[in-house]
Amino acid sequence: MKGLILSGGRGTRLRPITYTSAKQLVPVANKPILFYGIEALAESGIREIGIVVGDTKREIMDAVGDGARFGVRVAYIEQEAPLGLAHAVLVSEPYLGADPFVMYLGDNLIREKLAPLVRRFGEEKPNAQILLARVPNPQQFGVAELADGKVVRLVEKPSRPPSDLALVGVYMFDRTIFEAVKAIRPSARGELEITDAIQRLIDTGRTVRPHVIKGWWKDTGKLEDLLEANRIILDTLEPRVEGELEASEIHGKVIVEVGAKIVRSVIRGPAIIGKGAMIENAYIGPFTAVGDQVVIRGSEVEHSIILEGSSISDVGGRIESSLVGRNVVIYRSESKPKSYNLMLGDRSQIGLV
Ligand code: G1P
Repeated sequence: MKGLILSGGRGTRLRPITYTSAKQLVPVANKPILFYGIEALAESGIREIGIVVGDTKREIMDAVGDGARFGVRVAYIEQEAPLGLAHAVLVSEPYLGADPFVMYLGDNLIREKLAPLVRRFGEEKPNAQILLARVPNPQQFGVAELADGKVVRLVEKPSRPPSDLALVGVYMFDRTIFEAVKAIRPSARGELEITDAIQRLIDTGRTVRPHVIKGWWKDTGKLEDLLEANRIILDTLEPRVEGELEASEIHGKVIVEVGAKIVRSVIRGPAIIGKGAMIENAYIGPFTAVGDQVVIRGSEVEHSIILEGSSISDVGGRIESSLVGRNVVIYRSESKPKSYNLMLGDRSQIGLV
């Protein structure tokens, strides 16, 4: 069994962060989203992973390397344009060959362990296994209609969803998927949809098995989903303090990485403070991930993700529910609004009024 991780795409819903950085590399609890997918595949016994890359190829390759540190062998497969998930499967055929494979969308995070599903797929050999999750907003996903426990119909982003069962971005296929992706035509959004390819499997009498997952699932393509994923993951971490504390208080689950310094500050977990970060006269509230080398002085930050190298000084109000890119500088200017709500790109400089 091989793994196929899709890590192309433009990440338009996370601009401006994704102007300069791949969406799959945005960190959740200080770890790139993509790494959670690689780890999930490695944990389920998969040793060979193909990563489909597009414009952000260089960056993905620099971050993941040859996969050795995850205990897997990684190969990179180029997709010349983001022409859809089924197109990504098509260009991966030479790499995948006749092996069954798990396809994992690089911006998805799921809690459920894949190992039992992968094992069952290998033993029982249906043509495809899809994962489904109940969601309040099925219009934004591929949606499945089931009857007697079988998949009867799949529709991509329907305006009138037949159910609340969304297609999770983790799929298992055997080689019959290649015939299906070759048979379909581009959708209205101009992409070869994997949803249509799976519908094609159903229409041609192949076995497509559904599995409704328990626990959470996040497609981190949007800011609020990313913050929620950050919240969920931070809550599962084991607290540890490896940095230095001076006249500071730490409550709840908090990780302070090596080289970080916390001076006259309060950190209320779950939170993570990255390597070499400097927190001084500050309050870091629950569900905050502070990246490596970040400086926060005289400010309050809560329920936010601050990427590496940024600095936040003397901001009057509390920064909340925000995503701050790399090397961003936020500093205080004259007046004091009570709340800030920001989505800042890498290298932005904002002087708040
Ligand atoms: C893709 C699939 C969709 C699926 C979703 C899961 O959507 O097309 O069927 O539910 O991933 O994350 P996209 O992210 O391309 O909008």
